[in-house]
Amino acid sequence: MNAPPGNDTFLRALRREPVPYTPVWLMRQAGRYLPEYRATRARAGSFLAMAKTPELACEVTLQPLARFPLDAAILFSDILTVPDAMGLGLYFAEGEGPRFERTVRSMADVEALGTPDMETELRYVMDAVRLIRRELAGKVPLIGFSGSPWTLACYMVEGGGSENFARIKAMALEAPATLHALLRRVTDAVIAYLDAQRLAGAQALQVFDTWGGVLAPHLYREFSLPYLVEIAQRLPRGEGAAKAPLILFGKGNGPYLEELAASGAEALGIDWTVALGEARRRTGGRVALQGNLDPATLYAPPAVIAREAARALDDYAAANGGAREGHVFNLGHGMSPDMAPEHVAALVEAVHAHRGR
Ligand code: CP3
Repeated sequence: MNAPPGNDTFLRALRREPVPYTPVWLMRQAGRYLPEYRATRARAGSFLAMAKTPELACEVTLQPLARFPLDAAILFSDILTVPDAMGLGLYFAEGEGPRFERTVRSMADVEALGTPDMETELRYVMDAVRLIRRELAGKVPLIGFSGSPWTLACYMVEGGGSENFARIKAMALEAPATLHALLRRVTDAVIAYLDAQRLAGAQALQVFDTWGGVLAPHLYREFSLPYLVEIAQRLPRGEGAAKAPLILFGKGNGPYLEELAASGAEALGIDWTVALGEARRRTGGRVALQGNLDPATLYAPPAVIAREAARALDDYAAANGGAREGHVFNLGHGMSPDMAPEHVAALVEAVHAHRGR
């Protein structure tokens, strides 16, 4: 039996090679907005049971691809698997989001952190990657991911989500050496984690710096940016056709696009507060760009979704000498549980059908 022809538009766009249409995938494309996701989650009993069972993680990874002609799959997991494996004890309090049993507040807490082994504590993630690659059979590429050191440290210090990041910002200002020691440990774990995902079969790697944008510029440049640059510099990507590009996504990273484009990463993921054309001009074609429709656009009717998608595609192309290459279409952040699957279908269709002005 011949393998079906693979769709590699996503990887081609990241390499800034010509593509027949702009590839699209959506952050949080597997999730509670899909009834089949809710059914699998109910069967598993919890989000964590689902994420820690490779067969179920594989099943939910593939669900959005069965519905929509998306151009990439993203591993179903969570960024908090790494601090969990470092010994913090991740759990989800119903209706409250992620929480840790233990937090990191002192140098002694940093020193007590474990160094997770990628084929023991985090084997379930690597097994999921291997299984998903097998099940995808080359249909579309698989994206692996990690949280950024700063974003993971936010959860580790706060003990869960936060409204104002009071504890970690106090640490940044009053005990910077403790925070740097934590970021050092987390950065090493993130690099090992991404490298292991690539070796298990991930074909592109995305770092989510979800909370970088909450920092004042001088603190972003001290506590988030240098660790992103270190990942971009140190992370092995493989060679030739097997090279896995690195995408640095950051919510609120608009002020830092020039610095991020100089990091050595192959691509930047941006939110909707910067226009794609402006991002393309400021980064000068040194990186591919991924984004950046405001996720709330998915609440609008399909005709409006198509209009807004066309606006973003045309804005990028106009700044890119009229060409679509070097752009991966996405939202500027993740999807929400109350979004309509039919509207996702309309968005994917609009992006694929777009042929420019
Ligand atoms: O994009 C994808 O489809 C891949 C899966 C994915 C999840 N989390 C699944 C998930 C990815 C890439 C993540 C990353 C993640 N996790 C981030 C960074 C991305 C971003 O949005 O900026 C962050 C900050 C987290 C931490 C986290 N995990 C939170 C805050 C929550 C609760 C969210 C909520 O709506 O309750 C989670 C749980 C989680 N991770 C869910 C999913 C689908 C919801 C779990 C459920 O109840 O089923």
